[in-house]
Amino acid sequence: MSIAICPGSFDPITLGHLNIIRRTSRIFDKVIVCIMNNAMKPSPMFTVGEKVDMVRRAVSRYPNVEVDSSSGLLAEYARQYPGAVIVKGLRAASDFEYEFQMNLINKKINPDLETMFLTASGKYTFLSSSVVREMAMYGADLTGLVPSELIEEIEEKARQWRKK
Ligand code: PNS
Repeated sequence: MSIAICPGSFDPITLGHLNIIRRTSRIFDKVIVCIMNNAMKPSPMFTVGEKVDMVRRAVSRYPNVEVDSSSGLLAEYARQYPGAVIVKGLRAASDFEYEFQMNLINKKINPDLETMFLTASGKYTFLSSSVVREMAMYGADLTGLVPSELIEEIEEKARQWRKK
């Protein structure tokens, strides 16, 4: 069985992420979306538990997609799925530089681990979780940026953050 791991911070999941996950789910038998508790991004807007819940709701229509989380290294996490491939989306050349470096680091830790890239759909190349967070903080309309069923929750979280 072919397995893909789609890792990320997902703070929060965007329609760009969902597009990559959906397309990956058509290529692989099983997709594991792994929410990485990224130590280098110390002040996430959402807790890992909240992100798991949000991503689960967003991918519920895809039967071969599961959601997990990890606070360790991605290359170590992947060891539990021998033969699994990391799949990430690339929006621009700037993404490639970072992802290429990550791929090399992951290979150094776990030489058997392969990474594949899907180019982002043109309509989502501008979209990132940080854009969504910023728009939410300004009370902007999030329609077309994040899964519609998550908009209310993201807006509510932004309201709480504005009071901080
Ligand atoms: O959504 P993002 O922020 O682009 O995802 C980046 C992520 C979480 C996939 C990457 O930072 C990661 O794999 N973090 C886990 C820790 C790790 O394995 N780092 C690489 C070796 S230092």
